Amino acid sequence: MARTDPPAAPPATDLDALLAVLDALPARIQAELAGLGTEAAVRDAQARALKGPIAEGQAAIRQAPGPTRRTIGAALNKAKTAVEAAAAARLQALAREALDAELRRQIDVSLPGRAPRPGHLHIITQVRRDIVDIFRELGFEIAEGPQVETDFNNFEALNIPKDHPARDMQDTFYVTDDVVLRTHTSPVQIRTMLRQQPPVKVICPGQVYRRDDDPTHSRMFSQVEGLLVDRDVSMADLKGTLLHFVRRFFGPGVKLRFRPSFFPFTEPSAEVDMSCIFCGGKGCRLCKQSGWLEIGGSGMVDPEVFKAVGYDPEAVTGYAFGLGIERMAMLRHGVNDIRLYYEGDVRFLRQF
Ligand code: DAH
Repeated sequence: MARTDPPAAPPATDLDALLAVLDALPARIQAELAGLGTEAAVRDAQARALKGPIAEGQAAIRQAPGPTRRTIGAALNKAKTAVEAAAAARLQALAREALDAELRRQIDVSLPGRAPRPGHLHIITQVRRDIVDIFRELGFEIAEGPQVETDFNNFEALNIPKDHPARDMQDTFYVTDDVVLRTHTSPVQIRTMLRQQPPVKVICPGQVYRRDDDPTHSRMFSQVEGLLVDRDVSMADLKGTLLHFVRRFFGPGVKLRFRPSFFPFTEPSAEVDMSCIFCGGKGCRLCKQSGWLEIGGSGMVDPEVFKAVGYDPEAVTGYAFGLGIERMAMLRHGVNDIRLYYEGDVRFLRQF
């Protein structure tokens, strides 16, 4: 029925129709709710009932004269209460059904559990421990230092002043002008010597940082540093120790060779090569046909370093070496890209 002007009061027929709808509402809503299976659907139906006939009744009440108003009001209250009660009852029934279903569930407590898959140490951790263990057998103690290091420990005391070209190869992140992410484990030499008097015999594993990123160089990688300071230490001691190490780590047949080199903190300095474990020294792709693989740097501690830490260079001598742990792991396991170690791909890591 179309209306243009709202009447002062609903005509009798409209009123009767409204009262009939309100009267039928509880039964209608109950029937509807009975078919609904979720809390969201029940609340939705309740909201629709309140918005439809009940909102209509509330609009009618505002326009109706006094006695009619009371009639509509009573019907409205009854309908509203009934809708709310029906919705609450249905919700309660749903909750009970859910609980019943849960209680009916049969749990076979005798089934075997699902075992969590055990993890294991990262390949680099394993290799680091293996390396350190070999030196511990020789009486080296573990010394560690922070990865955020002073410029003094990382460079200055190692005879690498501010304008030294060696700094170019070890560019890093400067926290301030005097604090850096350490570029090697050599600053642990300085820390150790500043802390104790000779004799010193330490092995220093740890992470280091550089501005590098390619298949064989990573921004973060790991080294082990060795330092031995005592009376009458010679280069023969250094070579003998490293030879023992490579044979314990890679196998008995491995040979070692020193190539003259330069490091600001050692004099003389040597590049350490071992015979290629892939071709036995005959020459192959991996050793670039040379028969040798480079594994680190070494040398006799420079007197300038002893002076920087307050040791008497006339009284003591020492050797030092630095080895790359990723490099050792690559050689031992045939890994060809250093970045694989840090991508966290379990398909790679699971193999070791
Ligand atoms: N610190 C050097 C680097 O990271 C490696 C090194 C060379 C360490 C010679 C030493 C050493 O202790 O004697 O390139």
